[in-house]
Order: sequence, then C-alpha cells, then structure tokens
Amino acid sequence: MNKDLLWWQKTIAYEIYVNSYMDSDGDGYGDINGIRSKLKYLQELNVGAVWLTPVYASPMVDNGYDVSDYYSIDPRYGTMEDMEALIAEAKSMGIRIVMDLVVNHTSDQCEWFRQSRQSKDNGYSNWYIWRDALPDGSAPNNWRSIFGGSAWTWSEERGQYYLHTFAVEQPDLNWANPEVRQAVYDIARFWLDKGIGGFRMDAIPYIKKPDELARGVPDGADGMVSIHDMTCNTDGILDYLREFKQNVTAGKDVFTVGEANGVGPDDLQHWTGSNGVFDMIFEFSHMNLEFKGAEVWYKTDHWTLKDLKRALGESQAATACNGWYPIYFENHDKPRSVNHYFGDDVDPVLASKAMAAILLTLRGTPFIYQGEELGMTNVRWDSIDDYNDIDSIGQYREALQNGLSHEAAMECVHRFSRDNARTPMQWDGSANAGFTSGTPWLPVNSNYRNVNADAQNRDTDSVLSWYRRLAQLRCGNDVLLYGSYRELFENSDSIYAFVREDGVDKIVTAVNFSGCEQSCGLDVVEVLLSSYPGGAIPGKLRPFEAVVARVR
Ligand code: GLC
Repeated sequence: MNKDLLWWQKTIAYEIYVNSYMDSDGDGYGDINGIRSKLKYLQELNVGAVWLTPVYASPMVDNGYDVSDYYSIDPRYGTMEDMEALIAEAKSMGIRIVMDLVVNHTSDQCEWFRQSRQSKDNGYSNWYIWRDALPDGSAPNNWRSIFGGSAWTWSEERGQYYLHTFAVEQPDLNWANPEVRQAVYDIARFWLDKGIGGFRMDAIPYIKKPDELARGVPDGADGMVSIHDMTCNTDGILDYLREFKQNVTAGKDVFTVGEANGVGPDDLQHWTGSNGVFDMIFEFSHMNLEFKGAEVWYKTDHWTLKDLKRALGESQAATACNGWYPIYFENHDKPRSVNHYFGDDVDPVLASKAMAAILLTLRGTPFIYQGEELGMTNVRWDSIDDYNDIDSIGQYREALQNGLSHEAAMECVHRFSRDNARTPMQWDGSANAGFTSGTPWLPVNSNYRNVNADAQNRDTDSVLSWYRRLAQLRCGNDVLLYGSYRELFENSDSIYAFVREDGVDKIVTAVNFSGCEQSCGLDVVEVLLSSYPGGAIPGKLRPFEAVVARVR
C-alpha cells in the first residue's frame, strides 16, 4: 500500500460559489472578505483546500465564468489586497486557496476578443475561432451551444462568425495558436506566484477542436447537434494539457483538478496519474446517470441504484493503482444531492447523512460543496423569470422549441436548474439567513429557519455535526486514506456498501437507499457512526440509514 500521499490527497476540499457564500459589505453578493470571516468554520470541518469559483474581473453574464481580465479581481468580490490577504490567512490556518482557471473561453469584453473581432489581420485575429458564413449567410455548421441556440454568432464588425461552446458572450479561445497557450500559462503562473494551492480547470475537455468543423447528425427537432458531442475530448487534447503541466505546475506543491464532463472512467488513466495531465479530474458518470451523452434537461432516462454503484465502482477501480479521484456529489452546476439521489420526499437529514457517509469514506479526496454539509435542498420557483441561471433559461427555451409544455419545461428547470445549488448559504435563522444585510442577489431557500449552520452547530444530531464527526474519522484513520476499495452486497438493489481495507484494518460503509428495513450481515467489531440517533441495530439497516463500522 502506497503510504506517500501528498497533502491534497489527505485533506478535505470544499467548493465555494463566491456569489452566495458570505456578503461582507451588504451589496447582496458574497465576496472575498466574507470568505475570510468564515475560515474558522471551514477549519472546524477539517477542510484543507478551498476551491473558489472565478473571482476575476467579469461582466457576470455567467457569474464570473466569463472573464474579461485574468489579472484583476472583480470589484463585486473585493480587491487584489483582499485576495492576497485571503490566500495568506487561509494558509496560516492550514487551508490552501484553489482558483478556477476558465480558459476554454473568455468574456466577449476581454481585450483579446475586442481586438480579435476588429479585423482578420491584427495581433489577436487568430486568438479565437472565426469562420466565414456559408454561401447563404448561415452559420458554418449546425452545432448547438451548451446553453442552447447556435454555437456560432455573427460579428458585423469582422464579417465572420465566431464559435462559443457556452453563451454568445463567451467566445472560445483558439488553443491551436501557441500565443494563446503562452498567455494561459502566464496567467496561471501569475496566480501560483501569489501562493495559491492549485487550479480547478473549467470546461477543459472542450479546448481542442477537430481540424475540420463538420456538420453533425441532428439530435433534436431544431436540426442541430450538441457541440459537446462534436468537440469533447478531441484527439490531441492531451498534448496541449501536457504542455500546460510542463510549463505551469510540474514540480510545484500544488494540485490540478480538471472539470471533465464527457471524459469517462476509461480515460482516467490518461488524464490523471503518473503519465496523466492533471492530478485529478471531476468526471461525471455518477452525476449524469439520467443523461445519455449531452446534458439536455428535457431528455432524461430512469436510473437505478445499481447504475450509481457501477459508476462509483468504475472510477474507484480506474484510480486504484494509478491516479487519484475527487469524490463529489454536488457542485454549483448540479441540483442538491439530497434531491438528486433520494428524490424530494425523503427526509433530507437522513438523505444528507447517507450521502456524506459515502463522500467521506470512499477512496480519494472529498469535495464538499457549500451548504451540502447542512443538507441544503433544491428550490422550486414558479416562473422562468425567477431564475438567474443562464443555462436554465436556455434549457427552458430548448424544451419549449422541442414541443414540451410550459409546465413540463418548468419541471425540468425545477429538477436540474443550477440555481438549486446557488441560493445563499444558510448561516443562521436571522433575515436572509445571515448571508447579507442587503438584498440577496438570489432568494434564500425558504427552509433557512430550520436548515442553518448556527442551529446545526448546537445540535449533536444535525447534518453539520455528522459531517464534522465523519471528517475527523477520515482524517484520523489511515485505512480511510490509504486503504483499498471493495464493494459489498453487489447484487442488492437497496444497499450500497463497501469496505476500505489496509491489512487487517477494515472499515465498512453501508447505506440503505430504500424506505424499507434491510438485513445486512456484517461481522462488526465496532460501530463508528450510525445516522439514526441512538445508534445502529446489529444486522439491520433502517430506512435510509447509513452506518460506518469497523469489521473483522
Ligand atoms: C463550467 C462551469 C459552469 C460554467 C461553464 C462555462 O461548466 O462549472 O458554471 O457555466 O463551465 O464556463
């Protein structure tokens, strides 16, 4: 067993969606000084790395994922001095700040793009992906952007179309141009020099485009095909990323985690590990159980617990000997895990504790998403106008265009809207859940009086207390850090259970995903945790119960 794990393999990571974490100045948006005021809270959760969503200057069309200047902090979030203070204070408390590097695209307000669109022969003209119109004036091909609508937008100024995987305001950079790649390395080095602990690499499987941007077979009534299916994980992408690693992170005491939707467990060995390009990648097979291929919200499939078990088992197996896995069930683009994996009717406290037991005992580095440690849940707003998320608006339109009724389209929004996970963090039972003294940019979930950090801090049976106990268990137990993974009760449709083993030391996590009591025969030496107040019952798992136990 390899006992040489690095700091980021032994720690617990935590994602902060900056807009919604803590507002220090009353403008309704979370900010850097707000995060500084919560470092102690994070320390008490044993968090050693905090991934911040983008804080660079941005027109905020996609809440910071449209960067206009990579070398400055957006005034909404604070100043460069605030950021430097955050990096230093966090570090002194044993927490490294990890930045989100958004370099598949920039904002259309970025100086590079402003220049690029001016003409076909200026210093930046080849920094983005430009093509002539077809003879009839239409777009170069039938690719649909991820947020809906054509992936091509016409620039009157330049007289050509430019490509955007996401919104119109997010033009894709041309990574085939070595100058672009150098500019990306410069940005990354600038931030590493400030002492950050690494990068989460946004939308990374889309950076390489095929040599020929050919039409695709339509996948919807609009005659278009998702750009995801045409450009994700294109051959040759790893050459670019290897170059990034050599130029930016090689030999440094930091980590990289790529957001790699569409890169599956089979690819993990090429993307991570000794010959890989990143330390970890967020792959999505367990997050996208209801989607086949591209994530189109109105086209979903049924999934079962066995699908979830298979997805988790495959990524554990793929990183067993080489590479490392970031364990996660939530992020700022996905619904809350309670609703996603258990549905809207299950007791959210039991459901949260069950997901947490898995999150903190699988092999890899757990990534907690803000509020997950409180059992925060989805929201349901009546009108599409209540939603801020650009993806929700695009997906709603796509659904209507493909024949769905308003009600059915809204049902998709309720299930999958990214705003579900973006409502303000619930700190206490006071106005706006203690998130802001002003008007929050997105409404607070109406359950905040019951579900908040302050109340849970005082309750030893709360989700937060459960997280703290699990975090301590994980950080203090070699078998949970180093031990191998083996699934138990593989044929069960109700139980997900696995054992972590390191020699004679064995710890089992067993979760009942059903509403019926299940028998679960294990040779238990000591029950470490049970999600029911009062403890476990030998040989049984009650509805939605999670148990962590030392076994023989
Ligand atoms: C990633 C981000 C998402 C963003 C998109 C475009 O998927 O996580 O929030 O909208 O990239 O940058």
